[in-house]
Amino acid sequence: MRTSAGTGYNPPMAGKIPGTFIDELMARVDIVDVIDRRVPLTRKGKEFMACCPFHEEKTPSFTVSPTKQFYHCFGCGAHGTAIGFLMEYANLGFVESVEELADGVGLEVPTEASNRPPPAPGEGTDDLLHMVSRANTWFQEQLRNHPDASQAVAYLKGRGLDGRVAADFGIGFAPDNWSGLADALGTSAQAQKQLMKAGLVKNKDDQGESKDPRYYDRMRGRIIFPIEDHRGRVVGFGGRIVGSGEPKYLNSPETPLFHKGAELYGLHRARRAIAAENKSIVVEGYMDVVSLSQFEVENSVAALGTATTRVHLQRLFRLAPEIVFCFDGDNAGRSAAWKAMQVSLPEMQDGRQIGFLFLEEGEDPDTTIRSEGRDGFMERVAGATSLPDFLFDSLVDQVDMNRIDGKARLVSMVKPLLLQLPRGALQDMMFARLSSLSGLTDSQLGKGQQPQPSAPSRRRRQTGNIQEGQISPMALAISLVLQNPELAETVAEPEELHALKTQGADILARLVDLSAGEPDQNTARLLEAFRDSRYHGYLEKLAVRPTYIDDESREAHFADTINHLMEDQKEQRRLQLLEKSRQQSLESGEKQELTTLLQARVENPG
Ligand code: GTP
Ligand code: MN
Repeated sequence: MRTSAGTGYNPPMAGKIPGTFIDELMARVDIVDVIDRRVPLTRKGKEFMACCPFHEEKTPSFTVSPTKQFYHCFGCGAHGTAIGFLMEYANLGFVESVEELADGVGLEVPTEASNRPPPAPGEGTDDLLHMVSRANTWFQEQLRNHPDASQAVAYLKGRGLDGRVAADFGIGFAPDNWSGLADALGTSAQAQKQLMKAGLVKNKDDQGESKDPRYYDRMRGRIIFPIEDHRGRVVGFGGRIVGSGEPKYLNSPETPLFHKGAELYGLHRARRAIAAENKSIVVEGYMDVVSLSQFEVENSVAALGTATTRVHLQRLFRLAPEIVFCFDGDNAGRSAAWKAMQVSLPEMQDGRQIGFLFLEEGEDPDTTIRSEGRDGFMERVAGATSLPDFLFDSLVDQVDMNRIDGKARLVSMVKPLLLQLPRGALQDMMFARLSSLSGLTDSQLGKGQQPQPSAPSRRRRQTGNIQEGQISPMALAISLVLQNPELAETVAEPEELHALKTQGADILARLVDLSAGEPDQNTARLLEAFRDSRYHGYLEKLAVRPTYIDDESREAHFADTINHLMEDQKEQRRLQLLEKSRQQSLESGEKQELTTLLQARVENPG
């Protein structure tokens, strides 16, 4: 295929998003995050699964691979990268998908190169952020100046909050009238639209049939906690009723800026303290974070009224290897802790620690630190129950350990949880603990039987031989590098690949070049590098094609395949030169080459 088109990979045309940017983006984005926000995923071994969003199904066949950064449905064949997913699922164009992803990881799409028409004035993310920030300023002004703010101030003082922390956290006030904010900021149709989009006002006429829609404030008569995203931009608000009333808290709805399952209250301001303390503390309420800060505990964050998500854990583990969750000592607290524990299991790589702190019934971090002081609270944090203890103690309590069938029940409850852990020392030690509790050995416990993703490549895996659908050695080599870019490191002489004349050699060589020395390379990045190539579709197919090769024998198999390709080429050349020598005399260089080739054949037969 050494045609004039080369690999078919064309550098992006002027006006397009540069390939280098796409590559950087693909290195930062996590497809699991991207899809999980839209289609909740469940972990199965190394992959994540869900019912496919692209066709009707009852049993999940949609898999997402965090290592390949690729999704694939074994039911309907849908597959692609994070970019492809947004294009399909959210019906976005390529550029829009890239922008959406870039926004999620804090990258700016290079603007001068963008060929997308700019968003209509006032409709872009920046405009929305600007509006939210103006609302934030407005709420804070109301706390200082509004005639009714005195009860809010009195309430905060009554709870022991000092002015320094209130200002630090940007606490504000939404007066109890219908349209204070809507009137102050909704001064044009466009501004009203933005306020709606940001979840700050509602349309009085929900059906939208009125010609003159009236807007009213979502937050009324509430103390306002601005919520920053992980980049420190205000994206939403939490509002607490002053005194008592229902609902006690009202949060901004999900908006294009605000994703509750992904953000944590206080994370941006806490990040330095989390890194310095090597630990984050997760509490349940806004007020807890604020109070702790007043007592100089600055490494706490709160979930935004949702259960702990994997994205939360990933964000926190990026900053420090230890997380302590604080819960109420009551049943609700126990069950929230249990859920947090379950979500955490797959994230427990060796070196990470999670603790659970159960406060006295009816107490929360706010009340505890006020009654016991910083030292008292920190002592409790230090004494938090470790994840392994919490898991075992909770379940041991539920069975009768004096009975054989009680122990068997324990095994049946614990084992599936332990299988969720990544392989490593923690998993080994927790299995050892289950052995000592149950009296069963590891093999009796079936520890080796890690759940396998139900991909056909695993279900019907065969060692070595390529069984299905005759795939050429070149296609196999390409599949292997594409699916396991780390194999590129094993290619001793990458230049030799460039010299190969086998069809597809140029693609293989380019894949190897892109992957060698790139520890973070993955399938999705490679595919995106070929998006403009006419081979993109072909490569997408190879990316999901089962290779039926064991993890353990993959490297050897790849080396064999490359070797085979090289030998094959030498054989072709040898035959060509022999044929020529029969018809005419060889030039001296050719004679030399043929001698070398024949020599090599003697040394390395077959
Ligand atoms: P204070 O009573 O002000 O101390 O609040 P708290 O932080 O102790 O609140 P609580 O433990 O009752 O709730 C913890 C968190 O759950 C809050 O910070 C909110 O995020 C959320 N929450 C509590 N009540 C409500 C509610 O009525 N509606 C919603 N949407 N969220 C709530
Ligand atoms: Mn409280």
